[in-house]
Amino acid sequence: MKTMIFKHLPAAIARTDFADDFLWGVSTSSYQIEGAATLDGRVPSIWDTFCATPGKIRDGSSGDVACDHYHLWEQDLDLAQSMGLNAYRFSIAWPRIFNGVDAEPNALGLAFYSKLVDGMLARGLQPWCTLYHWDLPQYLEDQGGWANRATVDAYLRYVDAVSRHLGSRVKHWITHNEPWCTAMHGNWDGMHAPGNKSLPLALQVCHNVLLSHGRAVPLIRANSPDAQVGIALSLHPVKPASDSAADLAAVARHDALRNRWFLDPLYGRGYPEQALQLVGKDAPQIEAGDMAAIAVGMDFLGVNYYFPEVVKDAPQQYPLRTEIVHPAERERTAFGWEVAPQGLTELLARVARDYPIGPLYVTENGSTYDDQVSADGSIDDQARRDYLIRHLAAMRDAITAGGNIRGYFAWSLLDNFEWAEGYLRRFGLTYIDYATQRRTLKHSGQWYSAFLHGAQN
Ligand code: FCB
Repeated sequence: MKTMIFKHLPAAIARTDFADDFLWGVSTSSYQIEGAATLDGRVPSIWDTFCATPGKIRDGSSGDVACDHYHLWEQDLDLAQSMGLNAYRFSIAWPRIFNGVDAEPNALGLAFYSKLVDGMLARGLQPWCTLYHWDLPQYLEDQGGWANRATVDAYLRYVDAVSRHLGSRVKHWITHNEPWCTAMHGNWDGMHAPGNKSLPLALQVCHNVLLSHGRAVPLIRANSPDAQVGIALSLHPVKPASDSAADLAAVARHDALRNRWFLDPLYGRGYPEQALQLVGKDAPQIEAGDMAAIAVGMDFLGVNYYFPEVVKDAPQQYPLRTEIVHPAERERTAFGWEVAPQGLTELLARVARDYPIGPLYVTENGSTYDDQVSADGSIDDQARRDYLIRHLAAMRDAITAGGNIRGYFAWSLLDNFEWAEGYLRRFGLTYIDYATQRRTLKHSGQWYSAFLHGAQN
């Protein structure tokens, strides 16, 4: 492979810098790649409804076809295998499994994931199954969605059906992907489905999602002997806009809702007192036993890391009295997200320092840039490759400093439907030509593959 020299690149990085049993994966999600929105009994999810609402998706698109992974999954798994990966994170579309509140599990939906999992195992890819990556069945939203505790019961039925069906073959389960986004983007800022704009609603959703996690863990363990069960949180190092005392205090308030609101209850500490005081009457309804259920204990924590957040004191802003700022002259991806590999090192150290974590996995990390296809069909995405190398080095630093990090899943195998941004944002190591569904490994993907096959950068 041609060696490229990048600014800021670590001197050298090799797979042998990591443990032999380190997991090297890619991460995907159902609605973002599958397409086949109405096939084999799938019913609409909140994302189908949201996409059909004018103005919600920047390019007016939807996941109706996406990468047509529902039909092209064998190609996609072949690609993952050829890259030298040994793990593959995917999510199950709940609307393929249950088409109504009182329905029986849909055999066709289960069959799809069954063959997908068999396909992973046949290719030496350890299946990492996410049970909820945001595609809630619309019929549940019609009854109040996650804010309604009945959705927790529906989730448990769904988890039971899936973990019974796949539990002898799937041994790594993630109950929820990024509860912050489910709750807050879905119900506070309204950027994501279902698009509500209410803090108390968002906090109730958040509580019920965490509760559903806690209740699901023992169920999965019962159905999937020796399974490892965890959750994937989107966590952000929080930095002060200045070294003023006011901005430093703002960091603590912001962190209390952004990160600790999830970590504290999962590790038995309840919601952070400081955040509870700030949200006041908007705090969620909590029933007896809920907090103990949420603190059930996990086998690992999944960390999705993209960028740090910089905050300043902003007394007028409810509820945290903080404001996110975007300092100039920082390196950013095309999305505007700050590129800060050091943030990953810090974050991994922080969670291990502050909580009794056990094994950690980086369950998502990746970047979007405006890819150009060259005349010869190749995609020379230097910036994405640079991002990947620097974040792997940052993870290596965290391990060298004593971190118990066992695996890394790059977001994502394929370009895909990037939620409210539609197809405007490409995060893939593989380029998708949506007109032909042709897959082309970008230079970043080629680099990852060479790295996994033993090349030294
Ligand atoms: C994460 C999501 C994932 C993808 C990446 C870019 O927040 O979990 O589905 O959209 O961002």
